Amino acid sequence: MVGDGGGGGGGGGRKGRAFAVVLVLWGLMFSVSCVASRLESGSKQTLEVQKHLKRLNKTPVKSIQSPDGDIIDCISMLDQPAFDHPYLKDHKIQMRPNYHPEGLFDENKVASTPAAKERANPINQLWHQIGICPEKTIPVRRTKRDDVLRASSVKRYGRKKHRTIPQPRSASPGLVNQNGHQHAITYVEGDKYYGAKATINVWEPKIQQSNEFSLSQLWILGGSFGEDLNSIEAGWQVSPDLYGDNNTRLFTYWTSDAYQATGCYNLLCSGFIQINNEIAMGASISPISAYRSSQYDISILIWKDPSEGHWWMQFGNDYVLGYWPSFLFSYLTDSASMIEWGGEVVNSQPDGEHTSTQMGSGHFPEEGFGKASYFRNIQVVDESNNLKAPKGIGTFTEQSNCYDVQTGNNGDWGHYFYYGGPGKNPKCL
Ligand SMILES: *[C@@H]1O[C@H](CO)[C@@H](O)[C@H](O)[C@H]1NC(C)=O
Repeated sequence: MVGDGGGGGGGGGRKGRAFAVVLVLWGLMFSVSCVASRLESGSKQTLEVQKHLKRLNKTPVKSIQSPDGDIIDCISMLDQPAFDHPYLKDHKIQMRPNYHPEGLFDENKVASTPAAKERANPINQLWHQIGICPEKTIPVRRTKRDDVLRASSVKRYGRKKHRTIPQPRSASPGLVNQNGHQHAITYVEGDKYYGAKATINVWEPKIQQSNEFSLSQLWILGGSFGEDLNSIEAGWQVSPDLYGDNNTRLFTYWTSDAYQATGCYNLLCSGFIQINNEIAMGASISPISAYRSSQYDISILIWKDPSEGHWWMQFGNDYVLGYWPSFLFSYLTDSASMIEWGGEVVNSQPDGEHTSTQMGSGHFPEEGFGKASYFRNIQVVDESNNLKAPKGIGTFTEQSNCYDVQTGNNGDWGHYFYYGGPGKNPKCL
């Protein structure tokens, strides 16, 4: 489609000169065609990137320039990426869940903990300082050219590498450091689960290299850990490759085939249907907890609506963000078979040594409140749509000298755990 004009002229005169001219022309044509093919593959990539950006970035009703450099586009709810999915062409958007799980813990009642007192200032997203999105629109973090170019390919942008799931059951020394992913998690299995909840301490862990990340999240898992693993994930992450900075961001992920062909982060593919106009997936969270200082946390609830079967997500007490339609999944159309909560980092082993990328606050669980990162009030949703304390909690970490996890249980925090660590240290090399 991109044409390059080029003219060729004739040469005349004596034979020798003609031959030289031909040689020169031939040389010229050769180098021109080299440049042209380079240009063409360059412009092919440019075109591919442009097409992808056009698919992702819908025409906004309004745009908000966030202080962190993001542009938040308010796009009409009906224009959102989900509706590019062929199965969703005639989908009637649901503006609220039919059921909401009944809870053990009323967050507003729990006011005696240090963290609760600190929560006088509600956690926020940075772009709120500049503006809001109108009703019937949703805020979408605009994908920039550079975001896509940082990915290994246009196709891989917004997608996880294969098989990054922590798999406690098959944990064995031989599996340590599989794919360089390291975890410190708690989990439950052996029952049917219809959702999970947690309140997650928010930090900004240091990332040693831009191809690594550090996240804290919950996993709703269906199926065995084969090629058809279903997973719904949400939490916060620092991921320089995905976002181009070191900010802590709210994120979601889903896949129905163990991260192979389906699923993505946030709204970077068709899948999640957002109904909320206040919270943007992938946007920076603020403020962030500081060591021996103010602590902040976010709460995330994901549950399956018993009537429609969709998986809904709520952020904090006030924001029902939207839902993953049931048809996206196989096992999860029925129920989840495992729930995990905790941290994950990529250890790319630069220089053959363990990375110093931090998990959680970058401090070990022993340090406790204000220093180590926590999950509190971890709960599961049962068949009757009740939030319950998880039974038979297990813990898992590949190398506890790098990142560790410690569970506890008390009246204020219900089931909780501290997790994380600094990565590289004298006992983790
Ligand atoms: C992110 O942090 C690392 C060090 O932890 C730093 O080298 C890098 O420049 C930072 N990246 C950006 C985009 O700020």
